Parts: sequence; C-alpha cells; structure tokens
Amino acid sequence: MHKLLITGGAGFIGSHVIRFFLEKYPNYKIYNLDKLTYAGNLENLKDIEENPNYHFIKGDIVDAVFIQDLFNTEQFDGVIHLAAESHVDRSISNPLEFVMTNVIGTVNLLNAAKANWNSFDGKRFYHVSTDEVYGSLGQTGLFTEKTSYDPHSPYSASKASSDHFVRAYNDTYGLPVVISNCSNNYGSHQFPEKLIPLCINNIKHNKSLPIYGDGKYTRDWLWVYDHARAIDMVYHRGLDGETYNIGGFNEWQNIDLVRTLCTLMDKKLGRAKGTSEKLITFVKDRPGHDLRYAIDANKIRTHLGFEPSVNFEEGLEKTVDWYLANEEWLEHVTSGSYKNYYKTQYTS
Ligand code: NAD
Ligand code: TYD
Repeated sequence: MHKLLITGGAGFIGSHVIRFFLEKYPNYKIYNLDKLTYAGNLENLKDIEENPNYHFIKGDIVDAVFIQDLFNTEQFDGVIHLAAESHVDRSISNPLEFVMTNVIGTVNLLNAAKANWNSFDGKRFYHVSTDEVYGSLGQTGLFTEKTSYDPHSPYSASKASSDHFVRAYNDTYGLPVVISNCSNNYGSHQFPEKLIPLCINNIKHNKSLPIYGDGKYTRDWLWVYDHARAIDMVYHRGLDGETYNIGGFNEWQNIDLVRTLCTLMDKKLGRAKGTSEKLITFVKDRPGHDLRYAIDANKIRTHLGFEPSVNFEEGLEKTVDWYLANEEWLEHVTSGSYKNYYKTQYTS
C-alpha cells in the first residue's frame, strides 16, 4: 500500500482531492491531517469517512514535535500539502496566523520529511500553491512558470515564502519536491467567504452582494474537480523540482461573473430575471487588491496532458445546484464565529 499524507483534507480543495484519490487508487492508504479551523469541516468527507483506506488525524502543522512524531510513526511514501490559511481578507486583518500556518507549518513538514525519510527514493513532497505568488498582471499577459514572484497580500507573501522553502529543501538537501500554482477554484464545499459561494448564499437570503471597488478585477476560474485531476497528474507524473501552473484559460471580471451568477440564480430560484442583480452593492475596495490574475497553463497541458473537463457555464451550474441542495451544510458552516467575521468586511 502507498501511504499518502494529505494535509488540509477537510477544507475545500483537500476534500475533493481525497475523494478523487480514494476512488482512483484503491491501493492507497490516505491520511488526512487537518486542524479543523473554521474552514475545515469533516462534513465535507461524510461520504467517504467509512472507507477503510481513509484515516483522519486531527493536528496542527505548526506543532513541530507532533509533526516529527507523526512522520516517525507512519513512514509516509508521499505528501500532498494543502493545509493553509487561504483567505486574502483574513490575511489583511491577521497576517501572523498566515505566517504561522503557511510558512512555519510548511517548514515543519519539510523538516519532518527530511528527517524521517530514510531514503528519498520513490518519495515525493508536493506543495499545492497559488498563482497569487506572481502578483498582479495589467490588462494583458499571462503568468508562466518563469514569472518572477511579486506577492502583494499577506496571504500571497506567505504562500510565496513557503514555495521558496520547498524549492530550497530541494536545492539544499535533495528532498524530492514538486509545486503547482493554481488559479481561483470554484465548486462545491467552498467556504462561503470566497466570492462565488458568498454570492450564492447572499442571493438565497436576499442579502447584498459586496463588490469590491469597481468590480473590474479579473480572476481565472477553474472547477475544483479539475484542480483535483491536475493534482493527480502532477503528483504522479510531474518532474522532481519542477513547478506547474494550473488554470482554466477562463478569465472573468468580478462584476461580469456576479451578473452571470445572478441570472443563473434567478432561473434556479424561480425569481423574475433581474431580481438578484439588484442586490449588487459596490463597497470599499480591498487594500492592495491585485488587478488581474491569468494563467498560462501550456506547460501542464503539453507535459502532462491536462485540459479542464467542463466549461465555466457547466461548472457554475453544478456548483449552484450543489449549494441549493445542501442548505444544511451552508447553515452549519455559517453559524457561530463566521457571522461576527462577516460584519468586519470593507463596507463603505
Ligand atoms: P481551505 O481554507 O478551504 O482549507 C484549508 C484547510 O487547511 C482547512 O481544512 C483547515 O482546517 C486546514 N488547516 C488550516 N490551518 C491548519 C493547520 N495549522 N494545521 C493543519 N490544518 C490546517 O483552503 P482551500 O481553498 O481548500 O485551499 C487549499 C490549498 O490550495 C491552500 O494551500 C491554498 O493556498 C491553495 N490554493 C487555493 C486556491 C483556491 O482558489 N481556493 C487556489 C490555488 C491554491
Ligand atoms: P476571493 O474569492 O476572495 O479570492 P482571491 O482574493 O483569492 O482572488 O475573491 C475573488 C475576487 O472577488 C477578488 O478580486 C476579490 C473580489 N471579491 C469581492 O469583490 N467581494 C467579496 O465579497 C469577495 C469575498 C471578493
């Protein structure tokens, strides 16, 4: 059995990766290490929790002693590291939390792999990262794997730092690593503080849709299931020490995306066309807001054969359908401390 540690598996992308790997690789034992922060929820994995090849470990990657003990006891064959603080707005109000989990936590995992893997043969440490490390594009151009790092938010600075440490462990100690930098994901089980699920939830409850600044900021959106497919390709076939950009060639300005979502939600909720759009409210901009992210995904396409499996309209419809069919999930994750957090947004 291949023993694979997936960190952050109770979160949005991690839960999809775990489900994907369990289905595709019945000869893998998958260990999900997660602290269960506000963003981590075991309800995301309810359908697979009884699978004999799945094990949940509650723990904090910032706890170096615990991480060393875990690697010493379990002798993992590989690591796919997704655990992170992931929301830009939260990083602006609490940068240190991001340094602790995203930087210190990553270095703890690297140290544990280095110290406990007797031989690096056949081992792999995969860091799942973001395109936000590259900074902001103007109206044209795409991020390639050769684009210089230029992070602006505390979140992207912490992810850039962790990427550098991962590469440094490859260069210095020969640790077999691989990195991917992906664009914005959307899909089921995403915590409703991020743009798409936040708008779906607010439309449902007739609450305003906060658009930062003029709404002309651009993101490149990829369906989360396609990110899981790409992670599978990179983990198994990516070359040691390499970086792969992952994206959908699918750029949207925020305002156009939210208007498209409003039209779809009106249809799904049986409301008159134009009802949800009235909820759009332009609010104070996010400080340091990156204008545009767009990925050149030609390397992963050419080297590993990656293509997105759905277009944006299909992916968005599947996403909306999931949120509308899973009201209980939405209610659970938006109860408690999240409600207080929501009030602290940049309202003008
Ligand atoms: P998420 O916030 O939904 O999930 C993060 C998970 O990490 C949660 O389950 C949380 O409990 C866990 N976690 C946080 N701190 C931890 C700690 N100290 N110890 C152990 N577990 C901890 O995030 P996501 O959107 O699923 O993102 C997963 C990864 O993918 C992150 O590394 C993120 O930077 C990267 N990424 C995300 C996107 C995106 O659009 N969401 C795009 C590109 C890359
Ligand atoms: P988000 O989902 O937070 O992802 P990221 O900041 O990592 O790209 O935001 C996506 C875009 O939507 C980004 O340009 C910020 C914008 N946005 C809003 O306009 N209003 C909101 O309430 C949120 C959460 C985001």
